[in-house]
Amino acid sequence: MITTWPAPAKLNLFLYITGRRPDGYHTLQTLFQFLDYGDTLTIEPDTSGSVSLTTPLSGVKPDENLIVRAAEALKHAAAARGTLPAQAGAKIALTKRLPMGGGLGGGSSDAATVLVALNHLWRCQLSVDHLADIGVTLGADVPVFVRGHAAFAEGVGEQLTPADPAEKWYLVAHPGVSIATPDLFRDADLTRNSPIRTLDELLQRPFHNDCEAVARKRFREVDALLSWLLEYAPSRLTGTGACVFAEFNTESEAREVLELAPKWCSGFVARGVNTSPLQHTLSGL
Ligand code: C5P
Repeated sequence: MITTWPAPAKLNLFLYITGRRPDGYHTLQTLFQFLDYGDTLTIEPDTSGSVSLTTPLSGVKPDENLIVRAAEALKHAAAARGTLPAQAGAKIALTKRLPMGGGLGGGSSDAATVLVALNHLWRCQLSVDHLADIGVTLGADVPVFVRGHAAFAEGVGEQLTPADPAEKWYLVAHPGVSIATPDLFRDADLTRNSPIRTLDELLQRPFHNDCEAVARKRFREVDALLSWLLEYAPSRLTGTGACVFAEFNTESEAREVLELAPKWCSGFVARGVNTSPLQHTLSGL
């Protein structure tokens, strides 16, 4: 039986970098919200004993693809608990809408959807906490997608407190460049000393992303796109970029501005949602 699963995008509504750990990872305070827009995975469980991705991504080796790695990590954990069905396998196809290196969490969301979907389809019975623990070994943003609720994140992004920011409409614009997260985090000019604040304090201040100045400095396309968007609405970088987003109260306002976007960029309009579309799929089964 072929099943279809959403892998939604995320936005970082704000992102502050508060320090750097000895292992090089940065400590953050960020507010994650999902979009009702993203990739789609079709998953056909089988008894082949192996997991294959039938839609390879150019530039990503199959065994480095987060989808395959997530499936292997789940198998390993479920086998250790004795809850992996014999010969558990699957064919997975990905319809990719989220750009790579875009700051929308596409790869992390794909991985989280694989963990949640195969846990269900294979009846592994791993808890959400256990899936989130597996997720963080794949990427710092995976746990929030596994848990499926908008969240204030601290630590390297894995310490999550559920949150309910306003569900606005967003115009998300892609400047046509891809930003490698490790490169941006290595930049000497990156702000790494934002003070640690409470969520209440952060919600009362204007939202800001500490990665934005460095992304604008390194990529003139990001700089130009943000300057353009800021003429219309409050706008910021998401994650480490390269996408930027502008917030609106209505869908029609966001679509009107999208119509005016410069030819060299691409974009879409989507609603910010505090419950992940993946959760709706899971609870509808
Ligand atoms: O966890 P993820 O694969 O998204 O991280 C990619 C890279 O970004 C890490 O290898 C690290 O260099 C950097 N990073 C960081 N601090 C974080 C998250 C990521 O320095 N909180």
